[in-house]
Amino acid sequence: MTTTVFKEDILEGLRKDQKTLPSKYFYDEVGDRIFQEIMAMPSYYLPGCEREILRDKSADIFEKIKEGNEKIDVVELGAGDGTKTVELLRIGDSLNAIENYIPLDISPNILEVNEKNVKNVIPHLSVKPIAGDFFKTLKEFNKDERRKLVLFMGGNIGNFPHEKAVTFLQLLKDSLNTKDYILIAFDLKKNPKTILKAYNDDKGITKRFNLNILHRMNRELGCDINVDNFDHYPHYDPISGRTYSYIVSLKNQSFKIEDEEIHFDKNEVIHTEISKKYSLSDVEELMDEVGFDTVQHFLDEKKFYTLSLVKFR
Ligand code: AVJ
Repeated sequence: MTTTVFKEDILEGLRKDQKTLPSKYFYDEVGDRIFQEIMAMPSYYLPGCEREILRDKSADIFEKIKEGNEKIDVVELGAGDGTKTVELLRIGDSLNAIENYIPLDISPNILEVNEKNVKNVIPHLSVKPIAGDFFKTLKEFNKDERRKLVLFMGGNIGNFPHEKAVTFLQLLKDSLNTKDYILIAFDLKKNPKTILKAYNDDKGITKRFNLNILHRMNRELGCDINVDNFDHYPHYDPISGRTYSYIVSLKNQSFKIEDEEIHFDKNEVIHTEISKKYSLSDVEELMDEVGFDTVQHFLDEKKFYTLSLVKFR
């Protein structure tokens, strides 16, 4: 990602009447570290649920996919450090069900960490990391006859507005073979207070995460933003299932991005992130729209989170 693209995306969002900043820019080096802190917060229940499902349901997941003694490739989109996936791989490997684990990520560095982590637990597993844009990589795989289980974990699909989620799944569908399976994580609708707390911790970690985008503009675009003049405001709407994150301007103020001055009224809000919560039927409808069949939802004990297994219709 070049500075120019970053700058243009930021400017585009801030020129709108209702200002926005894209949440994908949360994740620079600092943001990655803050997100690690978020994942360790007791109120941020998502990673714990995912870990529990992988631990307790991986055998059932492979049971659904397996055909005789045939081995499959496990491909993970946006694999990160692999620490949670290891549980699924360990179980799949003990069932003799995995030929290769193929973690895909934009970052070559994190893939090195991933391979080490996985090899530590399952030394003999064939790990074939590929860095780069995962749709491009997937297209290459189509020539391969071996069946795949594609993982998209972490609840990342929640950041996509509906149309983007549909486009994403269609692209994914276009780059797979008809006998492949996909396992996708969705955070489920639940008590609205539980959801709001996950995005509104009282240590201010999520606030730092949200406001990091302003610090990043200072670092990378040479802006002169006094970040203390902005606050974090999360909001959950239990009907649409959307969590919205906003940055609030605490006073009348402006700053410059190169030559362009951006003004903020006191109490003006900038929308930064959507984090959509689904019902199981929301998931099924989404899959239906794309032409996937939902094979089974695998949930944690509290029914907070699902890993939904889907295949071609
Ligand atoms: C990484 C997209 C799953 O939406 O829960 C965490 C990002 N934002 N706290 C989410 C996030 C605020 C997270 N995902």
